[in-house]
Amino acid sequence: MRLILLGPPGAGKGTQAERLVSAHELLHLSTGDMLRAAVAAESELGVKAKGFMDAGELVPAELVCALVAERLRAVEDGQGYLLDGFPRNEAQAVALHADVGDDAIDCVVHMKLDDEEIVQRLLKRGRKDDTEEVIRNRIKVYGEETSPLIAFYEQRGLLRTVDALGTIDDVAGRIAEAIAGCGQVGAS
Ligand code: AP5
Ligand code: MG
Repeated sequence: MRLILLGPPGAGKGTQAERLVSAHELLHLSTGDMLRAAVAAESELGVKAKGFMDAGELVPAELVCALVAERLRAVEDGQGYLLDGFPRNEAQAVALHADVGDDAIDCVVHMKLDDEEIVQRLLKRGRKDDTEEVIRNRIKVYGEETSPLIAFYEQRGLLRTVDALGTIDDVAGRIAEAIAGCGQVGAS
């Protein structure tokens, strides 16, 4: 199974990704986690990415796309994967499909959550970019840059929208239902 988790900051992409990768033996590719590791290692990529991440802006596409392409090229045939936080805008989606093919994704799970719940969840978590000002900017960037991917993947018949409000178990159950049959021949 090859999945994308699409949703605003705090929707629970990382939380649900952990469950999905262990249940379906998927490779988990989180661009946020990869970029945070690069920042912590003070690599060239990390140094370039840090300011964008601290401000809640998208890191330039050429940096992120190269990172993902390298990892996806190393995926063995038949190995499923889950993309968490990537693609983040239409240019990244186009680059992804140019790289791995138009049929390289079976389902896109769109996790829907309203802004005030996002702010409450993330203030409680307290990651470096979880200040109210940066959270609100991440929500704005999501609305402007990432949310057009909902229509992009809907047009391709891949979108499954789930309500991300509720307990972690509730949301996991909704996702399981939404992706049932994904990646199987003849599934729609
Ligand atoms: P990224 O790391 O992707 O952050 P994000 O999209 O802002 O989302 P989060 O990781 O904050 O939230 P999540 O949906 O994973 O929720 P989580 O499970 O953690 O990106 C960070 C930055 O990196 C970006 O701003 C950008 O600068 C850069 N970046 C990353 N990818 C990029 C790309 N492709 N292109 C360019 N730049 C990129 O849950 C959040 C909290 O809620 C946790 O505390 C969790 O315990 C809790 N929670 C989860 N589920 C529930 C529930 N059901 N009920 C209550 N609480 C819950
Ligand atoms: Mg995350």
